[in-house]
Amino acid sequence: MANAGAGSHFLLFPTSVTPSACPAASLSRNEHGRRRRSAMLCRAGGLDRRDVLAGLSLTGVAAGGLNLAAESSGTDVCLRGDKIMDLRLSCHPSGSSPCPSPPPSPFSIVNFKPPTGPVRVRQPAHLADAGLVDKYKLALARMRALPDSDPRSFASQAAIHQAYCDGHYQYQMPVRPLPGGGMPPMPMPPPSAFDVHFSWIFAPWHRMYIYFYERILGSLIGDDAFALPYWNWDAPSGMVLPEMFKDPASPLYDANRDPTHVDAYVVLDYNKGGDVIPFDPVAVQQHRYNKVVKDNLATLYNQMIRQGRGARCFLGERFCTSLKVNQKSGTAGTLESKAHTGVHIWLGDSSKCTTGYDGVQYCDNDMGFLGTAGRDPAFYSHHANVDRMWHIWADELGHRGFEDPEWLDTSFVFYDETPRPVRVRVRDVLDVAALGYRYEEREPLQWLDCRPTSRRAPKDTTTGTGGGAARAARTPAPVFPLRLRVGRNVVVPSVRRPTRNATKKGELQVLVFDAVEFDPCRDAKFDVVINVAPEVAGGVTPQWVEYAGSFVSIQRGGAKPGETIVVMVQLPVEDVFDDIGVVGDVDAVNVVLVPRTEGITILSPPTIVSQEC
Ligand code: C2O
Repeated sequence: MANAGAGSHFLLFPTSVTPSACPAASLSRNEHGRRRRSAMLCRAGGLDRRDVLAGLSLTGVAAGGLNLAAESSGTDVCLRGDKIMDLRLSCHPSGSSPCPSPPPSPFSIVNFKPPTGPVRVRQPAHLADAGLVDKYKLALARMRALPDSDPRSFASQAAIHQAYCDGHYQYQMPVRPLPGGGMPPMPMPPPSAFDVHFSWIFAPWHRMYIYFYERILGSLIGDDAFALPYWNWDAPSGMVLPEMFKDPASPLYDANRDPTHVDAYVVLDYNKGGDVIPFDPVAVQQHRYNKVVKDNLATLYNQMIRQGRGARCFLGERFCTSLKVNQKSGTAGTLESKAHTGVHIWLGDSSKCTTGYDGVQYCDNDMGFLGTAGRDPAFYSHHANVDRMWHIWADELGHRGFEDPEWLDTSFVFYDETPRPVRVRVRDVLDVAALGYRYEEREPLQWLDCRPTSRRAPKDTTTGTGGGAARAARTPAPVFPLRLRVGRNVVVPSVRRPTRNATKKGELQVLVFDAVEFDPCRDAKFDVVINVAPEVAGGVTPQWVEYAGSFVSIQRGGAKPGETIVVMVQLPVEDVFDDIGVVGDVDAVNVVLVPRTEGITILSPPTIVSQEC
């Protein structure tokens, strides 16, 4: 057990048409009626600050006392009362993967203060001028030259990400008296691995992480305006690995990347073995968009708008230590599960492997395995864009985050540039302006206008099943648990949907898979389409109206070898139904599953519920 410092609780039918060309490239952002984010914080104003979790190499302890457990809704992943409270989080090194830099003394931790100094302007990496590239190279060269033990070193920075997703951080549930009195029998259950992915912790933790990374780089070159370039993969001209990362002689280079992908169009809704098309800068300049670009823009429309309307859908579900009986892991939001995950897996090299904390071999290094992702400098620019997507969602699209103090007061400790350990809470990082940086927008947000319009199936508003009703009646329902096999698409016929008047204000219809079981040591993905014949379902990509989303998981560490995990998967389908004409009293749809990887079992049939998103 490492890092125990003083007081250390440390812590459908084919009438195929060509999809419409997506964007009106001339669209200006103002046409979308920008809304400013309204004050999103603060019911919690009078509460005591609670350090629900703290991190880096140490401590997390909640002050108990507040019962923040909300009524558990039908699809709330948490059991009532089992929120992260009173947890001790500690980092446990393994042979090949140490914990990041030595834990600071709890007494030396200072609370985060908003920065002063010039505004850091994060620019699109593919448009960065030579001056910025040179600065970044110099800064990163210096960062790489620091001894590994220095918390500011590149090795330490990469190790932070590794530790937080490869099982190094673990927590032990507090021992509580049994309901009838007395204490639970020993031995205690083994500690659980803590992960900053697959829950509402994802967005704020990564914002904190690259914030400090950026400041450390700036300080190493004496430039307090140094800003991370962002990988603008949401703009067609940025849909390729930025040039600055490709020079093998540069500190920005990483050898562990798929060599066939570095000069190809990045595929945001990536299926292994799918299209690899050489990037054509002239074509994108002239707005000649191929299938990949159109699907990418539609993926972004889906993640940001069609399926990302509310905080739970976009940011992910709450982090829980105790889930419903058949669930073992949290649920990621669209910010994490769509373009973000696609880019990770796209860039990793399947022939480069490493041993994870659990002793299992993980390939797709560096970016395609979370344990090694931080070793690729492109990671930080990728995450700057993920961060920008969150910023656009909140500030341009006007969405609100969570108001739950459980989220707002979750805190982590990072070393800053001095280096000094700083405790930063989620509520500290909700506004990028207050964090002293902004994103320079150089191109219109074309994806804003990319609501899918192309149909695979003829519209049939009487049955809502695209002419497939009679067929559906002949289709035997699959038996659950259902083991998915690539190449065998499965129709789940006539899944009932709630009628309009069963849907309360503020609720959306969501397709829910209660329990999806898979091997966390492998990538996992299946797509979901509605009211399409199974023979053609595989061609229904994000630019088609019938596409209803995907379940996708990147290799994650921290599991026990051979152990599978079970997650709940929720796909908001309200807009999908509107788009395909499933309206009014159409009371059922055919749900078609398109497996993209082996090894996934769906334990129980999907349902459609109305819930807040
Ligand atoms: Cu912490 Cu993109 O992953």
